[in-house]
Amino acid sequence: MPLHSLPMAEVRLRSIEKQFPGGVHAVKACDLDISDGEFLVLVGPSGCGKSTLLRMIAGLEEPSGGSIHIGSRDVTHVDPADRDIAMVFQNYALYPHKSAKENMAFALRLRKVPKAERERRVIETAKMLGIEDLLNRKPGAMSGGQQQRVALGRAIVRDPACFLFDEPLSNLDAKMRNHTRSELRRLHKELQTTSVYVTHDQEEAMTLGDRVAVMKDGVMQQLGTPLEVYRNPANLFVASFIGTPAMNLMTGEVENTQAKLATGFQVTVPSAVEGPVTIGVRPQHFRVASANDDGAVSLTARLVEPLGDLADVHFEAADGSKILARLDAELAPTEGATCPIVIDRDRQHCFDSTGQRVD
Ligand SMILES: Nc1ncnc2c1ncn2[C@@H]1O[C@H](COP(=O)(O)OP(=O)(O)O)[C@@H](O)[C@H]1O
Ligand SMILES: [Mg+2]
Repeated sequence: MPLHSLPMAEVRLRSIEKQFPGGVHAVKACDLDISDGEFLVLVGPSGCGKSTLLRMIAGLEEPSGGSIHIGSRDVTHVDPADRDIAMVFQNYALYPHKSAKENMAFALRLRKVPKAERERRVIETAKMLGIEDLLNRKPGAMSGGQQQRVALGRAIVRDPACFLFDEPLSNLDAKMRNHTRSELRRLHKELQTTSVYVTHDQEEAMTLGDRVAVMKDGVMQQLGTPLEVYRNPANLFVASFIGTPAMNLMTGEVENTQAKLATGFQVTVPSAVEGPVTIGVRPQHFRVASANDDGAVSLTARLVEPLGDLADVHFEAADGSKILARLDAELAPTEGATCPIVIDRDRQHCFDSTGQRVD
């Protein structure tokens, strides 16, 4: 019998606002439709309002305005316990004096699920997470990764309409974080429960999300699949926040669709753009020029970081500004050398003087 018995649910936010007493406007006019079964990631720098938005979906924080639907129900003013959601936090929040099994079964006991059914769900979930051997242990006798798995298990046994995650991997070391991230992806494939996942880590967002919503200062900047957001960042903020290493941003002036950049590069821009412009180029989208390339610019390599097949080369341009290029290691210059560099055709991003993308 599948673990899932309840209908799954979409989450719909309309004009959600949060103004804290004292004046912090943490979330501004947020509209968001999360589809049934989708894994949506809210990503942005610390303090941008991610947790506040998630806590409003959970019912732990009252919105100052707007509405929240889960499935067909308006839950804007519904108690957290009655929203049919399960939340997983950064700090696991397990009961220290209960075993893993008791922690996982606790919410089911409160809901008066019969013992046999509780046992069945806990065992099935423990198998799914590979934690059968831990069921009798208390949190103090488990590693961080194991505790987080129990916390996930506790959420899964409840079989909610929606999972809410607030930076659940932040307390794990790098290896455990990567491992648990893949686990989460696999679990989501299996369970297909609507999930909202908060992180400040853009890489985590890109690898986990069906779609990502990028936030800054309480305002949603862009919503799209990881590739959409990576390939077509809506503004300068998203451009510099998403992707690693960060996109190079070069300023210049446009004259007759030609942007002349302070770094020495010249690129063609859409005819709608005039005056000051910023051109973004990801490190991966520079190349060492070959003989038949037009528009190569000579740059001086100040630092070379070998990565194996590739090398990260930190260049200094004629105007003194810095450019990071990820180049084929075979072709990369040595430190101190000067090298002709071109921008991959069609891979540059153009932003107008207000920072908005122009195509
Ligand atoms: N209970 C609160 N009272 C007042 N201000 C708060 C409260 N909770 C969060 N804030 C403020 O709201 C903003 C958003 O916080 P938060 O949602 O926790 O950001 P994030 O999760 O993206 O790091 C921050 O400026 C934070 O200081
Ligand atoms: Mg937070």
